[in-house]
Amino acid sequence: MPATRPLCIAPSILAADYARLGQEVRDVVEAGADWIHLDVMDGHFVPNISYGPDVIKALRPHTDAIFDCHLMIAPCDPYLKAFAKAGCDIITVHAEAGPHLHRSLQAIRALGKKAGVSLNPGTPESVVEYVLDQLDLILVMSVNPGFGGQKFIPAVIEKCRRLKAMIGDRPIDLEVDGGVTAETAPLVAEAGANALVAGSAVFKGGTVESYRSNIDAIRRAAAGARA
Ligand code: DX5
Ligand code: ZN
Repeated sequence: MPATRPLCIAPSILAADYARLGQEVRDVVEAGADWIHLDVMDGHFVPNISYGPDVIKALRPHTDAIFDCHLMIAPCDPYLKAFAKAGCDIITVHAEAGPHLHRSLQAIRALGKKAGVSLNPGTPESVVEYVLDQLDLILVMSVNPGFGGQKFIPAVIEKCRRLKAMIGDRPIDLEVDGGVTAETAPLVAEAGANALVAGSAVFKGGTVESYRSNIDAIRRAAAGARA
């Protein structure tokens, strides 16, 4: 049996109140978030624009939680250093964002950060086959990247299962992002995912208490499916 990685809930601040981001980060960590998921969009690789390294740098003093940075930008290589310096702990690039995935992953590790690769819903799991030794995390997109609040795509469940088998005993986290709720979390947890990103499902309610019950509901549902 492959080793079990710890279950991590990673709220995406894409769904937070941007006018009070620092407080939102502190609140969601207080509510039980394991990681903070940071969705960076460039209006080119994806049809939306979010925020960049300066915003992440401003958030860094607000928490010690792992900063899990999801770069939806192309090219990514020229900006890796800026995101490393901003305080990201994990930097994930898209397999579709450029022709030199291996080089990008090497560059992230050379900056002393954990390296991740993200796969769009239409991208087969085989893209990671020859970079497994360069990876600390694989992020499976369960919606088309660019926007929060979209519907979970069930075909990714089988993709998770196959990736989990490819990962075997390697110390690689398997993360799912998009449409994760207390209803969909067990489906991907059962298929091997251990890191769950959730934006709208965590930030609904707008208070620490609601964040706590939202995170608890996702965690309980996923943990039950892993057991
Ligand atoms: C989409 C982002 C996701 C998104 C998740 O491009 O990568 O992290 O914010 O949001 P929900 O959980 O609302 O689908
Ligand atoms: Zn994301």
